[in-house]
Amino acid sequence: MSLEEKLNQLEQMRAKASLGGGEKRIDAQHKKGKLTARERIELLVDPNSFEEFDPFVTHRSSDFGLAEKKILGDGVVTGCGKINGRITYIFSQDFTVFGGSLSEAHAEKICKIMHMAMKVGAPVVGLNDSGGARIQEGVVSLGGYADIFLLNTLASGVVPQLSAILGPCAGGAVYSPAITDFVFMTKGTSYMFVTGPNVVKTVTHENVTSEELGGADVHASKSGVAHFACENEADTIAKLKRLLSYVPQNNCEDPPMAECTDPLDREDDELNHIVPESANQPYDIRDVINRVVDVGSFFEVHEDFAQNIVVGFARIGGRSIGVIANQPAVMAGVLDITSSAKGARFIRFCDAFNIPLLTFEDVPGFLPGIDQEHGGIIKNGAKLLYAYCEATVPKVTIITRKAYGGAYDVMNSKHVRGDMNYAWPTAEVAVMGSKGAAEIIFKRDIAEADDPKAELAKRTEDYRKMFANPYTAAARGYVDDVIEPKTTRQRVVRAFEMLATKKDSNPPKKHGNIPL
Ligand code: HXC
Repeated sequence: MSLEEKLNQLEQMRAKASLGGGEKRIDAQHKKGKLTARERIELLVDPNSFEEFDPFVTHRSSDFGLAEKKILGDGVVTGCGKINGRITYIFSQDFTVFGGSLSEAHAEKICKIMHMAMKVGAPVVGLNDSGGARIQEGVVSLGGYADIFLLNTLASGVVPQLSAILGPCAGGAVYSPAITDFVFMTKGTSYMFVTGPNVVKTVTHENVTSEELGGADVHASKSGVAHFACENEADTIAKLKRLLSYVPQNNCEDPPMAECTDPLDREDDELNHIVPESANQPYDIRDVINRVVDVGSFFEVHEDFAQNIVVGFARIGGRSIGVIANQPAVMAGVLDITSSAKGARFIRFCDAFNIPLLTFEDVPGFLPGIDQEHGGIIKNGAKLLYAYCEATVPKVTIITRKAYGGAYDVMNSKHVRGDMNYAWPTAEVAVMGSKGAAEIIFKRDIAEADDPKAELAKRTEDYRKMFANPYTAAARGYVDDVIEPKTTRQRVVRAFEMLATKKDSNPPKKHGNIPL
């Protein structure tokens, strides 16, 4: 073969590989409102930055007629590209080839880029669109999945791992994303389930659609498996890119600094009036967050799930931070099973990747109830406590109103290594609300009083005067200062500046044993 012929052959093979399962299947993919594996990569990476690996890999099976069905690339496009100028390893499953199902060779391609990402110290983005294990290959494909699960686990806390779910992902195709740090789903075209509607019907006789069983809205609001339910594929990829802009390349680096045009000493008069006079009146903690952090920088994570706690990334003076905030507008900001787990997982991600934590606290305590107790509020609440205790990144707390009971301890108190803890004058740092406290400790006085109602009111007021303020805690140094709300931004800016070189560590151990 002449050189020219050899080059022609290469070109032809590349053209064939780029077509995946062929024009007809690509059309079918488009008709479903989905992009192809390669179109998704184009949306994700900086122009002309993608370096593809293994386009000529094929499967090695011959059972069920597979010997005649070898498709170059074997259903996954893998490689490395730049996202906003930063190296990222990527795999993108191709539904047009055996439904994106995972063969031995397909798994090897994914493992190759994961190994490289860990050596180089760069994030891994998985664009998932797969029917699970390649059924014709049997146990070999199960082995392939297990190889990926192991690498997902080894890479956890070393490089950020992000998963976009862009099609019907079933079986093994959901467990790899579940181990990764963040899951993005597209509304209407993506599903995640261990077993689909047909199997559910056979086993439990329940009738359910794919959307009801494992659509984006369900996983973003009910199960919490997905962190983002996105409008379409372009929105999914845009959100994924935005998230990457807050995080470092690996656990040995600091997060990237962004330009900050928002004045560091900006005061906000509205903050002085944001907490209502009555302790039982709600307000939206996101108004507080948005007025404190760099303008427009707050990027909420898990927005639709366990809304009584708000978590997300933001920037302060261009520095990335993770924000955790009780949400008084939903269930009075109480901590329950799901909000505790949500907060804990976010804190652990931030701590693993050197992202400082800013906590806004307005919490009446843990939610009472049989469901909560039997559902394990003890072990779930302990997750949040454990995560705060364990975190060694700079940790700043602002108590805006209630810091009651165990929840006071949990929400990054000084006692669990909060570095700078500030309270607004509206803060109430106490074991519980004043009325509840008075009812317990003055039970007999109230019962024996001529006018029990008036006695309760008087005792409540006594307790309120004593504890429903920040000064009892401040007198002990449990809060470092009581600050005027409108100055919060500048105080937080200074706190994180002061803490930029903070070093803290935990005792050497194999790993801790967080209550799961
Ligand atoms: C091989 C598969 C496949 C699979 C789909 N295909 N899933 N081939 N192995 N797992 C093929 C189909 O045969 C079809 O090929 C093409 O992909 C498109 O599939 P359709 O069914 O036509 O598409 P659609 O109607 O959109 O349905 C998609 C789907 C469905 C929901 C994913 O195909 C499905 O339910 N697949 C099986 C899912 C599953 O049970 N997976 C579990 C595997 S076990 P042609 O040639 O006709 O176009 C597993 C265990 C791992 O993953 C456990 C680890 C913990």
